[in-house]
This record gives sequence, structure tokens and C-alpha cells, in this order.
Amino acid sequence: MVDHTGDPQRAEGIWADEAMARLSTEQKAALLYGAGPWQVRPPEPLRLHDLVMTDGPNGARGVTFHTELGLCFPCETALAATWDPDLVREVAAAMGAEARSKGASVLLAPAVNLHRNPLAGRNFECFSEDPELSAQMTAAYVAGVQSQAVACCVKHLVCNDQESARHTVSSKVGDAALRELYLAPFEAAVRVGAWSIMAAYNKLNGEYVTEHPWLLTTLLRDEWAWDGVVVSDWYATQSTAKALTAGLDLEMPGPSQLRGDKLLKALEAGELGIEDIDRSARRVLHLLHRTQQTGKTAPPSDPSGLIREAGARGIVLLKNDGVLPLAVTPGTVVAVIGSGADAGQPQGGGSCQVNPPHVADPLSAIKARLAPDATVRFARGWADQTRPRPLTAPDVTIEYRRRGAPDSEVLATEHAVSLSLSWLTPVLPGYESGELAIRVRARIIPTKTGAHQLTLAAIGHGVLALDGEVLLDQRFPGGRGVIFDLGRITQRADIFLEAGRPADLVIDYEPRPESSLLRLQAGLIPPAPDPAAAVWLATVADLAIVVAEHPHGVETEGHDRPHLGFDPEQDRLISEVCAANPRTVVVVNTGGPVAMPWQDQAAAIVQLWYPGQELGESLADVLTGAVNPSGKLPLTFPVRAQDAPSWPYYPGTEEEVRYGEGLAMGYRGHTAPPLFPFGFGLSYAAFRLGEASVQTTAAGYTVTVPVTNISDRDGREVVQLYARLADDRPFLELKAFASVHVPAGQTVPAVLTVPASGLRTWSSAGWNYLSGPVQARIGTSSADLPVTVLLGA
Ligand code: BGC
Repeated sequence: MVDHTGDPQRAEGIWADEAMARLSTEQKAALLYGAGPWQVRPPEPLRLHDLVMTDGPNGARGVTFHTELGLCFPCETALAATWDPDLVREVAAAMGAEARSKGASVLLAPAVNLHRNPLAGRNFECFSEDPELSAQMTAAYVAGVQSQAVACCVKHLVCNDQESARHTVSSKVGDAALRELYLAPFEAAVRVGAWSIMAAYNKLNGEYVTEHPWLLTTLLRDEWAWDGVVVSDWYATQSTAKALTAGLDLEMPGPSQLRGDKLLKALEAGELGIEDIDRSARRVLHLLHRTQQTGKTAPPSDPSGLIREAGARGIVLLKNDGVLPLAVTPGTVVAVIGSGADAGQPQGGGSCQVNPPHVADPLSAIKARLAPDATVRFARGWADQTRPRPLTAPDVTIEYRRRGAPDSEVLATEHAVSLSLSWLTPVLPGYESGELAIRVRARIIPTKTGAHQLTLAAIGHGVLALDGEVLLDQRFPGGRGVIFDLGRITQRADIFLEAGRPADLVIDYEPRPESSLLRLQAGLIPPAPDPAAAVWLATVADLAIVVAEHPHGVETEGHDRPHLGFDPEQDRLISEVCAANPRTVVVVNTGGPVAMPWQDQAAAIVQLWYPGQELGESLADVLTGAVNPSGKLPLTFPVRAQDAPSWPYYPGTEEEVRYGEGLAMGYRGHTAPPLFPFGFGLSYAAFRLGEASVQTTAAGYTVTVPVTNISDRDGREVVQLYARLADDRPFLELKAFASVHVPAGQTVPAVLTVPASGLRTWSSAGWNYLSGPVQARIGTSSADLPVTVLLGA
């Protein structure tokens, strides 16, 4: 049948009906599980491309972990710190285009869990602790990616807010907190038409999310009328019939563990009905259809400028006694210090990692920007000696053989972009992991002369030789827990390396047969630097910039952070540098908050986040004033981790974590004064807010606030509106915000929209829409709200 109405939804329905009619039950069932680690294969008669997925959310890695380069965008927390949905939409469109360029039609992003606890390992992958900021960022991100006909897979539904016990824990959450906080970003994603959602590993109130009928059907389908596809997180499916009938459409990854023949047997046994298969198959067909469309919006041809801009716009200036923006005159000596200074971390760890084509380091960018006036000198001062950084080499060759086969019988060869290698099984199609021997060769070129440690971690058995000498022989029998925490199985060998003198590395690897995810990583721990040299350099310099970071792999998927602090040695270095030079700028290259025992000593503190591959350039833009900082914290920076309202309940046991703080999560329940409050961030300009006016419409409220830039420097301010909805509720709840650019000396109105649905509360009777009067406070941080208005008065 041909549709003549021009209605795309109807045309889509007709296409799906016809496609379904051409499929056998087996073929429909084959739409419900992965054919490989990252793809679903549409049955022959449909003549469609595979549905190919790639991880996000800070880029699109592609369908292997280590063979493709991929642009590294700012992490989601950095994006949220811009408080600018328009910019986030643009960045997300570039990510969608990047996914397309890798042949992928689904980006496993954005991650929209909330920062319930400051130590949670994946916070940097998620936007914010606040549901409204997260919801607006989610909507912008989804719209951007999907403008490229690439589906978002919004993750991880829901209350997957910590890494501790993530595969077993049940998040015990009350209905009000669930609806008003944790589900809010998912609801926003559904409202803008996200094409897929990922069901998380954890349980919600006692039931695995992947087999939760209320969540996957009653809420998503009946209440929210959503027509997308629910995809399991990787290996999160728990059952055959129960998961499908609850509403889990797609089991990932393939080869299937719980579907395939098992699905057909369950059908025969009457444990599920053909209508269950049909329903989910039709949804997957719909997704295939949607992502085969063209009609893309044109992305920037080279997004590095956009990455740099977004990275700079996310940076939050936390403290500035006037040392910034940097002003140098001929002869000025600048000391650049820290382990992050000549490298820097563009991204956090885990499945979101991409292999960036390059990373702009702070030292080079600062040097280039301050030349020719200033002399920039570098001293590392501290380098972590506990966790190696993965080795990189210009060409890493991987050869696959059958175990015991002669060297000449190579089954396949592949080239990798680093020596951090991961595989989802099958490593090589048609072969069991236990049958394979893998040889990895690389020529490494050391950048420093001195005593190093070479390291190896292998899930299975790995033997590492350098220039023909066997240095490491490492066996690890496996287990899920170490996948993202290779530090626990890393072996080391002491070696001496000379800068620029190449060395040939060969690793023979026999993967562990039973693991579904395999890893092999060779790393290097550089010589320990001398902190005294760095302090001396700070003493003789006119100003110092310290770039501080966590050891590699501290902020990552797979485990939470052990504490809020930096390494104590690094803290000591920062403190001594500050003491040696009162004009010290501390740059914090982390995804989340850290304790700052040197806060009072530093002249300026800059929160860099994980800003993506243009890291050094984004930072130099802000340090020099080329970009006037306008980022605001999308989360609270507590003084101590114990101050977070979720602390008494976190992380719970292997079985359960109680969300005992209820609605009083994050800044909503913070009673101890924070180190830096939610919504806070300084500028090189100064702004004054005028009197607000409120316009009431059928859709809600429009609040207009004049923002005057009372400085001589153009700048951007983020105006924030918080409401108190009832006496027994949190004192502050973010309800609207607007980022406005205000030229020096001028006044620009900030227009904040509070939809009627923004003033609703959840009770056992359902949503309660408040008609007012509701008191709202407006300002430029949750701790600075000078303007007051009544909504619905
Ligand atoms: C993560 C997901 C990711 C998937 C595929 C899981 O471990 O939780 O966020 O998309 O792996 O890499």
C-alpha cells in the first residue's frame, strides 16, 4: 500500500506493517537481539543496513574499542556547566555526524543519571545533580544527535547513580524523588522524541530494570506514550520471557545469551505470546526505518573549533583575586607545573572513552599564547606512581592465530591506536577465545630519559618482551570487577628508557576463555619528578599555573572514587607552590569535585573538567581572557564527601541502596556550607540584575530580568530561577535559567520560561499542579539570589 496523505507517521506505520508481514516468526525474533557486539542485523527480506551502535557520550568511538580514532568532545558535566542548551544542541549534532561517519546509526548517549553522590564513578559522564538542568541538557543533546538521523540511546534508566554494586544493587527510592528527580531527564528525552532508551544494570525497588513491567511498559508506553526501543545495557538482560513481556525490546550485545532459540522455545512453551515478539520487533523496525532516513542538518566540517569553544564555555572560574586574566609583559616568567600540564586528561575512563586524534596540552597552548613576551618554564613536580597511563605508539599491530599454530599462520591482522586493548567476544568471529593466541607489536618512543616502570595487565595470560627480553609474565583468571580497574592486576618491571630512542615491544596474549569482555593493557609509569624543583621554579617565576589531576583511571565507569581528595602528595605540591608564589593559579582537570585544602592559598582556581581534545586551547582561551569565563557549577562542590545529603545511605550494601534523603538531594538538601555552591561561577566582567517582571500565559510564566554588564569587558551571565514549592519541601529548586551575552556597559534582558509543568509536585494521588502564588528567587548562583518574584500571584 502507498501512503498518499503525506503524513510521515502514517507512512511509517504502513511501511512497518508491510515489513512485518514479510517476516517469519524466527526473523522477527532475530530483530530482538544483537547479531554482534554493536549491531542488529535486519532479516534478509528487508534489504536494510545493520543497525550499528557506538558508545558515547563524549564522542563516537566506533564499533571496536581500539582501532579507530574518534573526536573527543567535552564530557557531559562540562557541557552542562555551559548552561546553554543551544550550544549543547550544536555540539551534539557534531557528535551525531561523527557517529554517522563511522557507519553508526545509534549513539549510546546521553547518560542522564543524576550526580546523587559526589564520589560516583560515572558522574562526569552525566550532566548534573539537578533534574531541571539535566532535563534541558538532555532535550538539547537528543535533538542535536537525532538531527543527523542518528538515534540517541538515553541511558541508564533509572537510578543507576553509583558504580558500587551496580550489577546487583536495588535502588530503593520513594515515588516523589523517583518522579521529580531521577525520571525527569528521561521524561524530557521522551518529550523531544528520543528513539531509544537503555535499561540499566541495577534493580529499582527490588526488580531488575530490564524486567520491570511498571517502568518499561506502564510508565514508558501507557503513561508517556513513547514509541522508541528499550535496549538492555550490555549483558544486563536477566531472563528470556520475563524481560520481553516486561517491555525490554532488544538484548545487547550479541551473540545472544537469553534470546535466539531460547525465545522461540519460550514461545512454544507459552511463556510469552507472539504478540510480545511482534510488539518489540515492530519497534526495532521503526528504529531501523528512522535511522535509514537522510535529511541531515549540515554539521561543521571540522568540529575542533566547536569542541574548543564548548570546552572553554564549560570552564568554571571558582576563585580569582585578580591574577586572571593573565597579563604578561616582556620578561615575565611563568612557571607551568603539574602532571596534567604537559598532557592533561581530555576524558574520563570506561566505555565512554574514545581515541582522540590529538590532545592539545596546556603547556604548549599557554606557551604559544604568551609568546613572545613571557618565558614559560615547566616542572612536573608530581606524577602519580600508582596507576600507569596506557602506552601509545604510532602503529600497534595485532595478529590473531590459533593457539599453537606457527608464526606464519596468521588468521587476521589489525592495527590499533593504543596499547589499551579491549574486545567483546567473539574476539574473532568463528573462534572461541580459548582457541586464540594474539600477538601485539609496537615500537615505542620514550619522551623522557630515566628510570621508568613498564606495566602489563591481561585478562588471561600475557607475556611482554622489550627489545627481545621478557620482562613481564602476567596471568589473571578474570571477573567482571576488574574490567575498568586494571590497577588491581597490573604487574610492573623497572626499566631505563632514553628519550627518543625507540624500543620494540611484543606482547603474546592468550585471552581467558570464559570472559565476555577481554582486556590487555601495557602502560608506563614515568620517573618520579622532584617536587623541590617545581617549588623552586615557582619561587623565581612571576606567576605559577599548576594543572592538577587524578591518577589515570580514578574517575571511571566500574568503580566509585574512594574519597573526595586528590593524592596527598599532589595536594602538598600545590600548597607549597602557592606558598612559594602568591600569584598561583590552580587548574583542576577532573570530572567532579575535589577537596581543596589549598583553597585559601591559591590566587585563582579554575575548574577545567574533562573538556575534550582541545583541552589546552580551551584552557588558554580562558586564562588569557580570549574567552570570558561563564561556566557555572552544575553540581555542589562539598567541603567533605560526608556533607552530601546522600552520604548516610551511600553506597548501601551489595543488595540495596536506600535513597533516604528523598527530595533533599544535592543542593536541595545541603545543610553544611559547601566549598562552592551549585550554580556558582565567576566572570572577568561584573553584572547587576534589575527588577524582574512576570508575564503569566496559559503555558506558564515568562520572567524577564534585565542584566547589566557594569564592567568594561563583554561577558556572559547565567541567570537562574529557584522556587520554593511548599513549606515542607526543599528551600530551593531550580525551575528555569537563561544564558545571556551582555556587551560591556549594556543591559540585555534575560528571559526565563517556567512552564506550568515546572510547578508540579508528586504525591500519592499523582501530579499536583500548583497555581500559585509560588515564591521564586532569581540570581546568578544558588547562593546569590537577590531578586524575588511571585509566580501565579
Ligand atoms: C555501560 C554502557 C555502555 C555499554 C557498552 C556498559 O558497561 O554501562 O553505558 O554503553 O557498556 O559499552
